[in-house]
Amino acid sequence: GADVEVDISKIEPGQLIRVMWRSKPVWIVRRTPELLASLANHEDQLKDPNSEVEQQPAFAQNRYRSLKEEYLVLVGICTHLGCSPQHLKDGAFEERVEGVPEGFFCPCHGSKFDMAGRVFENVPAPSNLVVPPYMYLDDTTLLIG
Ligand code: FES
Repeated sequence: GADVEVDISKIEPGQLIRVMWRSKPVWIVRRTPELLASLANHEDQLKDPNSEVEQQPAFAQNRYRSLKEEYLVLVGICTHLGCSPQHLKDGAFEERVEGVPEGFFCPCHGSKFDMAGRVFENVPAPSNLVVPPYMYLDDTTLLIG
Protein backbone atom coordinates (compact mmCIF):
# COMPACT_ATOMS: atom_id res chain seq x y z
CA GLY A 1 0.00 0.00 0.00
CA ALA A 2 0.94 3.64 -0.19
CA ASP A 3 0.97 4.16 3.55
CA VAL A 4 3.93 3.14 5.68
CA GLU A 5 3.96 1.85 9.24
CA VAL A 6 7.06 2.64 11.28
CA ASP A 7 8.11 1.16 14.61
CA ILE A 8 9.62 4.08 16.51
CA SER A 9 10.34 2.18 19.72
CA LYS A 10 14.04 1.73 18.96
CA ILE A 11 14.90 5.29 17.99
CA GLU A 12 17.38 6.67 20.53
CA PRO A 13 17.11 10.24 21.82
CA GLY A 14 18.82 12.45 19.26
CA GLN A 15 18.69 9.81 16.52
CA LEU A 16 17.32 10.29 13.00
CA ILE A 17 15.95 7.38 10.98
CA ARG A 18 14.98 7.35 7.31
CA VAL A 19 12.07 5.55 5.69
CA MET A 20 10.59 5.75 2.21
CA TRP A 21 7.01 6.88 1.63
CA ARG A 22 5.56 7.16 -1.86
CA SER A 23 9.10 7.16 -3.29
CA LYS A 24 10.07 10.05 -1.02
CA PRO A 25 12.55 9.97 1.84
CA VAL A 26 10.93 10.66 5.20
CA TRP A 27 12.96 11.47 8.29
CA ILE A 28 11.89 10.69 11.82
CA VAL A 29 13.93 12.39 14.56
CA ARG A 30 13.58 11.74 18.25
CA ARG A 31 14.25 15.18 19.68
CA THR A 32 15.75 15.63 23.14
CA PRO A 33 14.25 18.07 25.65
CA GLU A 34 17.29 20.32 25.14
CA LEU A 35 16.75 20.38 21.41
CA LEU A 36 13.05 21.15 21.82
CA ALA A 37 13.88 24.02 24.18
CA SER A 38 16.43 25.41 21.71
CA LEU A 39 13.79 25.83 18.99
CA ALA A 40 12.60 29.02 20.71
CA ASN A 41 16.01 30.68 20.49
CA HIS A 42 16.30 31.55 16.80
CA GLU A 43 12.77 32.31 15.64
CA ASP A 44 13.73 35.85 14.64
CA GLN A 45 15.99 34.27 11.99
CA LEU A 46 13.25 32.15 10.37
CA LYS A 47 11.14 32.96 7.32
CA ASP A 48 7.97 31.37 8.64
CA PRO A 49 8.37 30.29 12.28
CA ASN A 50 4.70 29.34 12.72
CA SER A 51 4.32 27.60 9.36
CA GLU A 52 1.60 29.99 8.23
CA VAL A 53 2.45 29.52 4.55
CA GLU A 54 0.99 26.52 2.68
CA GLN A 55 1.19 24.13 5.57
CA GLN A 56 0.33 20.62 5.52
CA PRO A 57 -1.38 19.07 8.51
CA ALA A 58 -2.80 21.71 10.87
CA PHE A 59 -0.76 20.21 13.69
CA ALA A 60 2.39 21.43 11.91
CA GLN A 61 1.48 25.10 12.37
CA ASN A 62 3.50 25.75 15.49
CA ARG A 63 7.03 25.73 16.86
CA TYR A 64 7.38 21.93 16.98
CA ARG A 65 5.53 21.03 13.79
CA SER A 66 4.62 17.58 15.07
CA LEU A 67 1.86 15.60 16.74
CA LYS A 68 4.09 14.65 19.65
CA GLU A 69 6.82 17.16 20.37
CA GLU A 70 9.44 14.47 20.81
CA TYR A 71 9.12 13.02 17.30
CA LEU A 72 9.71 15.15 14.23
CA VAL A 73 8.47 13.69 10.94
CA LEU A 74 9.55 15.44 7.73
CA VAL A 75 9.79 14.82 4.01
CA GLY A 76 13.56 14.96 3.43
CA ILE A 77 13.45 17.00 0.23
CA CYS A 78 14.64 20.61 -0.05
CA THR A 79 11.79 23.01 -0.85
CA HIS A 80 14.07 24.90 -3.24
CA LEU A 81 14.87 22.50 -6.10
CA GLY A 82 14.50 19.13 -4.46
CA CYS A 83 17.99 18.17 -3.30
CA SER A 84 18.53 16.13 -0.20
CA PRO A 85 19.52 18.18 2.86
CA GLN A 86 22.08 16.83 5.33
CA HIS A 87 21.50 16.47 9.06
CA LEU A 88 24.35 18.35 10.76
CA LYS A 89 25.30 18.70 14.40
CA ASP A 90 28.33 18.82 16.68
CA GLY A 91 29.50 22.18 15.38
CA ALA A 92 28.95 21.49 11.69
CA PHE A 93 25.61 23.31 11.70
CA GLU A 94 26.70 26.02 14.10
CA GLU A 95 29.45 26.93 11.63
CA ARG A 96 26.64 27.86 9.26
CA VAL A 97 24.15 29.41 11.70
CA GLU A 98 25.73 30.90 14.78
CA GLY A 99 24.15 29.80 18.02
CA VAL A 100 22.12 26.95 16.49
CA PRO A 101 23.68 23.59 17.35
CA GLU A 102 21.83 21.31 14.96
CA GLY A 103 19.83 21.48 11.77
CA PHE A 104 19.50 20.50 8.13
CA PHE A 105 21.76 21.94 5.45
CA CYS A 106 21.16 21.60 1.72
CA PRO A 107 24.48 21.26 -0.11
CA CYS A 108 23.04 22.28 -3.48
CA HIS A 109 22.49 26.00 -2.82
CA GLY A 110 22.99 26.36 0.90
CA SER A 111 19.48 26.38 2.33
CA LYS A 112 19.28 25.86 6.08
CA PHE A 113 16.49 24.48 8.22
CA ASP A 114 16.13 24.00 11.97
CA MET A 115 15.19 20.83 13.83
CA ALA A 116 11.52 21.50 13.19
CA GLY A 117 12.25 21.79 9.45
CA ARG A 118 11.75 25.56 9.52
CA VAL A 119 13.71 27.47 6.90
CA PHE A 120 16.13 30.23 7.85
CA GLU A 121 16.20 33.69 6.27
CA ASN A 122 18.62 34.55 3.45
CA VAL A 123 18.59 31.17 1.71
CA PRO A 124 16.99 30.15 -1.61
CA ALA A 125 14.44 27.67 -0.20
CA PRO A 126 11.12 29.54 -0.01
CA SER A 127 9.36 27.49 2.63
CA ASN A 128 9.68 25.06 5.49
CA LEU A 129 10.32 21.37 4.88
CA VAL A 130 7.09 19.49 4.33
CA VAL A 131 5.45 17.56 7.14
CA PRO A 132 3.68 14.54 5.64
CA PRO A 133 0.29 13.41 6.87
CA TYR A 134 0.70 10.86 9.67
CA MET A 135 -0.88 9.51 12.82
CA TYR A 136 -0.01 7.29 15.76
CA LEU A 137 -1.56 3.82 15.68
CA ASP A 138 -0.28 3.26 19.23
CA ASP A 139 2.53 4.66 21.40
CA THR A 140 5.29 3.19 19.28
CA THR A 141 3.79 2.87 15.80
CA LEU A 142 3.52 5.67 13.30
CA LEU A 143 1.43 5.49 10.17
CA ILE A 144 2.69 7.82 7.45
CA GLY A 145 0.13 8.63 4.79
FE1 FES B 1 18.31 22.90 -1.68
FE2 FES B 1 18.60 24.54 -3.76
S1 FES B 1 17.87 22.52 -3.78
S2 FES B 1 19.11 24.88 -1.70
